Amino acid sequence: MVSNKNLPDQYLIPQLGFGTFGRNGPEGVAAILLALDTGYRHIDTAQTYDTERECGEAFRQSGLRRDEVFFTTKISTDNLDRGKLLPSLRRSLDELKLDRVDLTLIHWPAPNERLPVAVYVEQLAEAHQLGLTRLVGVSNFTIAHLKQAKAVLGDLPIANNQFEMNPYLQNDKLVTYCLNNDISVTCYLPIARGRLVGNAILEGIAQRHGATVEQIALAWEMQRELIAIPTSGRADRIRSNYAALKIELSADEMAAISGLDRGQREINPGWGPKWD
Ligand SMILES: NC(=O)c1ccc[n+]([C@@H]2O[C@H](COP(=O)([O-])OP(=O)(O)OC[C@H]3O[C@@H](n4cnc5c(N)ncnc54)[C@H](OP(=O)(O)O)[C@@H]3O)[C@@H](O)[C@H]2O)c1
Repeated sequence: MVSNKNLPDQYLIPQLGFGTFGRNGPEGVAAILLALDTGYRHIDTAQTYDTERECGEAFRQSGLRRDEVFFTTKISTDNLDRGKLLPSLRRSLDELKLDRVDLTLIHWPAPNERLPVAVYVEQLAEAHQLGLTRLVGVSNFTIAHLKQAKAVLGDLPIANNQFEMNPYLQNDKLVTYCLNNDISVTCYLPIARGRLVGNAILEGIAQRHGATVEQIALAWEMQRELIAIPTSGRADRIRSNYAALKIELSADEMAAISGLDRGQREINPGWGPKWD
């Protein structure tokens, strides 16, 4: 579990989550169920992934109690206009068959900044007030967006910012800003979609630990107090990624991985924000 040191226990988030992009249909349900059986207690979905139904179904099959699993969903950019966010979140809850989620994120700032941040962040605060979500957060927000959101939310903390982060795109400025402002960080593409294989530094460290390079990347992220949400459709990888929780890296290994930043961003839509 990680939280921001100055916030109470309700802000704790299981540090290794299971991403669900691509986990659609019966195979998706099976993969999410295997993740829950393996020990993952944090499931990351989004309105645009079309996996909310699968997440709810796998959860019910798992037999776990509701308070044992942390659910995140994300509001699509189609649902940011005034009057649209709340009905869309209620539809998400219907798909999940849950009364509320643990964390609702604004998936992206409005494309090309076509709406002021206040328009959608005000609706997010209302969703919290109505009990549809336990915590609120954002995704793909820059420092400038975070400041605007904070101005709207006031005392309601931004619990989390989810953005691309792995050894090849370390986003140091944004990570530091978030952690200094009590905003937990979730790394998406935490294993760079399998592209870390063959990196000599990572392979060397992996060999010393009898681990995979993906496990080493996940361990590096978690040792930095960040949250990671890898996904896979394969049972062996679902299990091996989870086993990253057992790896402890030395200070030298942590520093060596921190030296691998290439600023290599994979998710970069033309309508997206001007990154920090
Ligand atoms: N907020 C956002 O805008 C945003 C954007 C992108 C993603 N996300 C979230 O972040 C999650 C993770 O991102 P992602 O799925 O794009 O990338 P990722 O977790 O970095 O990589 C997943 C890919 O890597 C492969 N893989 C998984 N484990 C592996 C291993 N141990 N060795 C080698 N290859 C492995 C998987 O293929 P196989 O299935 O064949 O194993 C899959 O294609 C998503 O599922 C989603 O929940 C959020």
